[in-house]
Amino acid sequence: MDFKLTEEHIMIRDAARDFAKTELLPGVIERDEKQEFPRELVKKMGELGFLGMMASPEYGGGGMDTISYVLAMEELSKIDASASVMVSVNNSLVCWGLDTFGNEEQKKKYLSKLTTGEKLGAFCLSEPEAGSDATSQRTTAIDKGDHYILNGTKNWITNGSSADYYLVIAQTDKEKKHKGINAFIIEKDWEGFEIGPKEQKLGIRGSDTHSLNFNDVKVPKENRIGEDGFGFKFAMKTLSGGRIGIAAQALGIASGAYELAKDYSKQRKAFGTEICNHQAIAFKLADMRTSIEASRHMVMKAAWDKDQGQNYDLSGAMAKLYASKTAMDVTVEAVQVHGGNGYVKEYHVERLMRDAKITQIYEGTSEIQKIVISRSILKD
Ligand code: CAA
Repeated sequence: MDFKLTEEHIMIRDAARDFAKTELLPGVIERDEKQEFPRELVKKMGELGFLGMMASPEYGGGGMDTISYVLAMEELSKIDASASVMVSVNNSLVCWGLDTFGNEEQKKKYLSKLTTGEKLGAFCLSEPEAGSDATSQRTTAIDKGDHYILNGTKNWITNGSSADYYLVIAQTDKEKKHKGINAFIIEKDWEGFEIGPKEQKLGIRGSDTHSLNFNDVKVPKENRIGEDGFGFKFAMKTLSGGRIGIAAQALGIASGAYELAKDYSKQRKAFGTEICNHQAIAFKLADMRTSIEASRHMVMKAAWDKDQGQNYDLSGAMAKLYASKTAMDVTVEAVQVHGGNGYVKEYHVERLMRDAKITQIYEGTSEIQKIVISRSILKD
């Protein structure tokens, strides 16, 4: 067993840490307040290679392993989880999905622009009545020979208005249930594609979340990903890797809050000493650090499984389940350590606490992770 990071891993981690401190930190409170994320920052992340980390170099990707990706995700998420969810969706769901299952033309036309930040991607599975129950797709894509006609509504779509390319999951043949589902690449300016209002969110407010409407959108057949009926498997396989990215995001949110709480506890004085000298605070820090360490091991194990070509459905789901609970617990405690200051924006921990909650909801709720885990452990 080797727990040591390579020099390359350390370089990537440090580059992400540096970018987060110099570029993301300065405007993070304002972006949360205004619910916006400037395109220039997306471009910068693209230029630095954070948007297509694992994708093949021949399509502009970094060709890096999943360990590198989770290290970067942790560092970005310590400072700005809105930035890191954009990175996560673009890397794990959109680029990885296209790189792994797209054909040569799709990769040349779409992937090569998504890896560099020239274009941004969104992954559109959830619907008003098909969030957790992903097989119940109401969006339809009717086969018309050389094209499909797409109709329906998608909800809670990350990068909803800022994306340029959308991977959309839709039902082609209802009779076939999940085997009648397909995945398509849709371009933003296609006729009949309409971006709905922006969601007003509790956390990750810098990232834009929208509903999307498709009204008779004509989708060329060459924009279907994989064989007819592959859409549900495409979504499940893609989400399985996505969960590792979100687990790393949760780990980053927890680590960020813990580091702030630790630093604060060494400066703030009460009852004649720095508050870290009171066991009430020191024990909180000990618990926070312990669960963060356990989460880090789980996230790394899931990433390692993926890099080794081993099945990562179970380790990824467990990492997400545990790290997202850790993010919630640790951020609540970090606010508590800060006392009154924890409740105000300039100390950052209240934002991290709000951001933490989404990690228990998106890319499969904690309950969904328990379904995946229990099915996996009971099938042997
Ligand atoms: N890899 C490959 N195939 C898989 C798979 C996986 N990880 N998981 C399931 N499948 C396959 C099964 O093998 C089965 O195929 P066969 O019939 O050929 O055997 C098929 O898919 C159906 O599987 P199930 O019967 O297990 O399906 P189910 O309806 O019981 O659902 C579920 C399983 C795990 C609950 C699934 O619906 C699920 O993951 N739901 C949550 C969806 C989700 O994560 N939504 C989040 C939206 S995306 C998002 O949040 C992005 C963002 O913006 C941040």
